[in-house]
Parts: sequence; structure tokens; C-alpha cells
Amino acid sequence: MAAVWPSRDLPPDARRERAVAAVCAAVANVATFPAVALEIGRVVDDAAAGVAGLRSIVGRDQALSTRVLKVANSALFRGRGAVDTLDTAILRLGFRAVQNIAIAASLTTLFRAGPLAPGVSAEDLWTHALAVATASSLLAARSRLAPEGDVFLAGLVHDIGMAAELQVDREGLAQVIVQARSVPDVDFRQIEVAAFGADHQAFGAALLARWGLPPALVQAAGAHHDPWAGDPALSGLAWFVHVADWIVVRHGGKPGLDLSGDADLDDAAVEAIGLTRAVIDDVVQAFAPAASEVEAAMQPSRTT
Ligand SMILES: [Fe+2]
Ligand SMILES: [Fe+2]
Repeated sequence: MAAVWPSRDLPPDARRERAVAAVCAAVANVATFPAVALEIGRVVDDAAAGVAGLRSIVGRDQALSTRVLKVANSALFRGRGAVDTLDTAILRLGFRAVQNIAIAASLTTLFRAGPLAPGVSAEDLWTHALAVATASSLLAARSRLAPEGDVFLAGLVHDIGMAAELQVDREGLAQVIVQARSVPDVDFRQIEVAAFGADHQAFGAALLARWGLPPALVQAAGAHHDPWAGDPALSGLAWFVHVADWIVVRHGGKPGLDLSGDADLDDAAVEAIGLTRAVIDDVVQAFAPAASEVEAAMQPSRTT
């Protein structure tokens, strides 16, 4: 066990609290909420800055500009012909989506660590995050219950607690994954709690709260496995991520790390996001091509 984890002799609540504090302190050295995303956030809030203001920020960063153009031309946003200028891409995507792309680009540093366990690499966590963000976005586009940009970001960061575990104790996370695969009936989160003192939901929520992200986003990371357990007033994004996670694990062609592919989707979840089973089936059909295009567009740059 890595030195960072609190003693197993502590009462569960105290152990959990210390584990969360240790992870937040350790990750603060690796990643802060991306400065460029904060800068874009200020432009988003300032109506007068407009497209030109956003273009001047994005245009300074070649890798970011390339990603914005690629995403604007991907299956999620295509429909009215090819986009070849940053201004048109920004208009097509919307300010929030551009901000999300900047956030995504910065977060990839948390996921760079190579092989983790047999058949699992740290990059699989990143691919999973993008896939859930894509599925979340497709669901939101068919529902009126949450803005697409918010839902995409919630999908992107929902398992960030696992990326935090990876940074703090890569070997420990590898052991948790191996153990979860060898005893499939035991909940992944129980194995995390036994190993670290808390699960990735607790780590993720604490990290996002420390970064000053909105409470609904914090709850999406903190309660995506059991959205009915969180504050109902803040649970909208958590429900979208919950359903998207299920779509990705069940239909994404890869087993989930923390979710069994056999689990059925609860009717309550379908209802909570304002959709029907028929619409979910529709999203499942649209998911694979959209996910591979978004993944290709958002690949971490080799030079950053
Ligand atoms: Fe999860
Ligand atoms: Fe997940």
C-alpha cells in the first residue's frame, strides 16, 4: 500500500476523510483546473467579448485550435457542410463546447501512465471518459432536461476520481482492477474502499469541488453510480452520466472498469432524463460512430 493512504485501523468515516484529503493534496501537484478553460469561461460570461474574444484565446494554442476544428467537423456537430475557419467552428460548436474541448485537452495529463493491469491501460480511462461524454451529449440532445455542454463535461469528468487514484497509487489501482475482475460479484467501489479508504466517486467529487466547479457537476462525479442517493435538486447531470455510462459499458465494445456490462438500466433512470427506451435505443445506434470521431478529434497531442 502506498504511504499516502490512511491506516486501515481508523474508523471508516475518518479513514475516508483522510484518504480524500490525501488525494486532493497529491493531485493538486499534478493538475489544476486548466487556466485556458477559466479564461474561456470569462469570455463565455462576457457577452461583449463575442466570437472574436474566444477566437483570440483559442487561436493562441495550435493544438487546441486543431481540436476545435476537428470536433466541429465530427459526427456530433456535422450537418451543414465542412467547417474550415475557427470563427465558424466556434459558432457551430457554441462557446460552452469550445470550453469543454479546452478542459478535455488539459485533463489528458491526468491519464498519461501507460499499461495498468493486463489488458487495461491508463489511456482506456481517458477513452472511457470521452465515450461517456459523447453518449451523455447524444442523450442531452434528445432531452430538454439539461444543456448539452454541461452534460458533456459531466461525462468527461465523471470518473476523474479514478484518474486521481492513478496519480497517487498506480500500483494500488492496478491491484483493485485485477481484484475486481477476479471477483466480479463484488462491487468495484467496495474494493476501492478496502484498498484506499474511499472510492473514485468520493475522490472525484472532492477534486471538482476544490477546483470550484458547480455543485451539479460535483454531484455527477460523486453520485453517478447511485444518482438517486444524491441531492435531488442537483442530480440532473448525475442521471445523464449514469445512463451514458451504462450505454458505453453495455454497447461500447469494452468492459467497464467499475460497472458490470450485465447490469440492466433502471426505468427510473430513463424517466429521470426525460427519455423513453425507444430513444435510448436510438442513441445506442448513434453512439459508436460519434464516439470514434470524438475520440479521434480529442486524441492527446504528442507534443504537449
Ligand atoms: Fe464510475
Ligand atoms: Fe464510468
